Amino acid sequence: MIVSLGEGVPPVQAQAAESMPPPILAIENIEVVYQHTVQVLRGLSLTVPSGQIVALLGSNGAGKTTTLKAISNLLPLEVGQLRAGAIRYFGERIDAVAPHLLARQGIAHVREGRHVFEDLTVEENLIVAGNALHGRGEKPDLAMIYEYFPRLKDRRTQRSGYLSGGEQQMLAIGRALIGKPKLMLLDEPSLGLAPLVVQDIFKIIERINREQGVAMLLVEQNAMAAIDIAHYGYIMESGKIVIDGTTEKLGQDADVKRFYLGYGEGAEELASFRHVKHYKRRKRWLS
Ligand SMILES: Nc1ncnc2c1ncn2[C@@H]1O[C@H](COP(=O)(O)OP(=O)(O)O)[C@@H](O)[C@H]1O
Ligand SMILES: [Mg+2]
Repeated sequence: MIVSLGEGVPPVQAQAAESMPPPILAIENIEVVYQHTVQVLRGLSLTVPSGQIVALLGSNGAGKTTTLKAISNLLPLEVGQLRAGAIRYFGERIDAVAPHLLARQGIAHVREGRHVFEDLTVEENLIVAGNALHGRGEKPDLAMIYEYFPRLKDRRTQRSGYLSGGEQQMLAIGRALIGKPKLMLLDEPSLGLAPLVVQDIFKIIERINREQGVAMLLVEQNAMAAIDIAHYGYIMESGKIVIDGTTEKLGQDADVKRFYLGYGEGAEELASFRHVKHYKRRKRWLS
């Protein structure tokens, strides 16, 4: 069961209204299976409207990374298969388009775990990533990246392997941004970073969204940080969406606060092992 919060029109229905242009990204009922046997996504649907930040939240193993890999067609590398459903970008099916072509069409995927070329300098990393602009008659705009990430400018001649975790994450986002994407897929940018660094990075992500108009699908376990900057949020469990709503509504919902944000009435109780049964019962009700 999908619980929709509040009276805000769910984006999928909004799309049905004839006058509306198609959303930048629509995932419709997808099922994903690894190794022909392990089913990980079970009828997952979500929508990213143009220019918005949409948060995809959920605990470890829920299938968030798999969802992003399905969008950018990276599943075949892991013997994963999109077995049912459709993925549309500006209304067009993209589930069979090669990853490098998706990048050129404006989908940038910042993968989990800060993938940078450690032996290249910061600037070399950015220039190499500028390949996504191939065939679009545009040059990589290093100044724009350094404007968002002054730290990268300071370190532009250093080998990336020597950067801090936060700086590597900034570089990973900078590498995505230099291709002038229309849609950024961000996989846990906060992972393993200190709270102050997370704050910094989330502020920059929000600024990029606002100033560049790039839509974002932001995957996070750090639900609080994501809800803070996102417009709309989906919470997934075991391969499907269990709750969705505007982040304003999600932030006010008692169950969301208790089960996913870790505060509100009863949150302290949950920390106690004695109440795990109660927690599981409530969780079943939610899904
Ligand atoms: N290449 C793979 N082969 C088999 N199972 C996988 C593979 N990648 C992920 N899984 C499984 O799929 C489930 C969802 O993983 P993932 O999408 O990484 O979740 P999340 O990003 O939400 O933590 C997990 O149970 C994980 O073990
Ligand atoms: Mg993940």
